Amino acid sequence: MKKIVILISGRGSNMEALIAARDAGDLPVNIAAVISNRVEAEGLETAARSGIVTHFVNHKAFPGREAFDARLADCIDQFEPDLVVLAGFMRILSEGFVRHYGGRLINIHPSLLPAFPGLHTHQRALEEGVRIHGCTVHFVTPELDHGPVIIQAAVPVLDGDDEASLAARVLRQEHQIYPRAVRWFLEGKLHLENGRVRLDESLADSAVLVSPEIR
Ligand code: GAR
Repeated sequence: MKKIVILISGRGSNMEALIAARDAGDLPVNIAAVISNRVEAEGLETAARSGIVTHFVNHKAFPGREAFDARLADCIDQFEPDLVVLAGFMRILSEGFVRHYGGRLINIHPSLLPAFPGLHTHQRALEEGVRIHGCTVHFVTPELDHGPVIIQAAVPVLDGDDEASLAARVLRQEHQIYPRAVRWFLEGKLHLENGRVRLDESLADSAVLVSPEIR
């Protein structure tokens, strides 16, 4: 069975969605380890409760980004994963780290990239007054939040929304699309061509944009 390692920094609800998909039989995968750069990440406990090996690599214990990333890569590589899954891992990764995992490192971001890279995406969407917001799963490249897009889910921005209500609407969709993207990768259905993702012919085009009803 294919192996993944999941990196988190906090709550770990996307990680939980992956565990739930695995447990439901929708995602045949060996979640070999969950690694956090923060010891207080709630997701570490959730993972341990599910019987998954957990590790903590403290970024504050290293003199710089490269040194931390090298230790993190050592920790990941002992599990020999087919795919490394960033699930709320709130660290900028060095170019060397990203290149080491070229084509097998994916991330979920809470906006419709290339709109709103970086932090505070929901607040910025509200301030801009956009009517559509959402989330993106993409391959990671050295440029922050800019890699080839695998799948996106769009949600409406409603007049009564605040940051919390919009974030919750988006998060529900994150939990839908991330397990799907991981499954496609592990099934070999994602082909990287000229910096873009081409889906296997067995996947219908409509599957890459999730556009739920307004609620
Ligand atoms: C998620 O909304 C994820 O998209 C976001 O952090 C949250 C983590 O939640 N990631 C980023 O902003 C990365 N740039 P979770 O820990 O409950 O999965």
